[in-house]
Amino acid sequence: MNSPSEIRTIGVLTGGGDAPGLNAVLRAVVRRAMHDRIRVLGIHHGWRGLIEGKIEPLTRYSISGILPRGGTIIGTSRINPLEKDPKFERIRHNWEKFGLDAIIVVGGEGTLSASLDVWRNGFPLVGVPKTIDNDLRGTDYTFGFDTAVSIAAEALDRLHSTAESHDRVMVVEVMGRHAGWIAAAAGIAGGADIVLVPEHPFRLSKICEIINQRKKMGRFFSIIVVAEDAHPHSDEWFLTEEEEKTVYQHTRMGGIGEILGRKIEEKTGIATRVSILGYIQRGGTPTAFDRILATRLGIKAVDMILDGEFGKMAAIRGTKMVSVPLAEAISGVKPLDEELYRAAQVFFG
Ligand code: F6P
Repeated sequence: MNSPSEIRTIGVLTGGGDAPGLNAVLRAVVRRAMHDRIRVLGIHHGWRGLIEGKIEPLTRYSISGILPRGGTIIGTSRINPLEKDPKFERIRHNWEKFGLDAIIVVGGEGTLSASLDVWRNGFPLVGVPKTIDNDLRGTDYTFGFDTAVSIAAEALDRLHSTAESHDRVMVVEVMGRHAGWIAAAAGIAGGADIVLVPEHPFRLSKICEIINQRKKMGRFFSIIVVAEDAHPHSDEWFLTEEEEKTVYQHTRMGGIGEILGRKIEEKTGIATRVSILGYIQRGGTPTAFDRILATRLGIKAVDMILDGEFGKMAAIRGTKMVSVPLAEAISGVKPLDEELYRAAQVFFG
């Protein structure tokens, strides 16, 4: 493959669930590459585009105006090029057909895991971390997280006023897969009375105690944030086998909020309503923080290609852009920071 000084054409793909800021990365890659007269090709719908040859130039014109736009203009998919029969021959064919010298893979754990194998099979690439869940190792933040938290915090503000008017308990289910980053951060920003995260199994009896205690103090409403993978403690387990299977299945999580809401109403006698924020957390315009982070990561990824830093991922550590081995980024879920959880916990009750 080519040495960094011979880099003329870079491909870029976005894989996995979308996250606000993807377009900011694409824009930054194109604008940074232009400074070195490098052509950028957009690979459509993640790995699928590389396998099927759906690849088109990204020009200054095509990326104009996309900075504030949610989603990704080149589409995404959860296709894994290594599942069942590895598609290296198809990738090699299109790699040569489109004259690719290196690619930038923007994705979460699944997409970046595949990247590592693709790179090990001789394709120069660098990764850019993306997920609203903020659960990737090797980087302090992923873009999309700040936007998701802001959306959830605004929803909590709105749910406060309706819960308070009706003296109700409001259970708000948020995304995050196996980590409680969104739940804890949104809970702090939105003034939640209880936050339930996967890292800390919860007890229904304790939740009801807090709600009843608040009532005694004249707080007739309560706001409970529950992460989609939060589990009851094994000594107070209350899900049926069927419920457990649907709520915690790996491909599509969700549903703990509804079940929990029913149980709380049963046990406390207080009217309880459930709101599932769902894909609203991923849609729409990115916050300024995410736009800046995504832009810096896109620029860093092109710099890494020019420096020959393949098999690595652009990342933010503290306030600095760095590169870290892809293997580190995919070495398991980055669990919620305990200090952040404790900050949320201060306001339980
Ligand atoms: O990883 C991001 C995420 O939004 C999770 O928070 C959520 O569980 C999952 O993706 C939903 O995935 P899909 O888009 O496949 O339904």
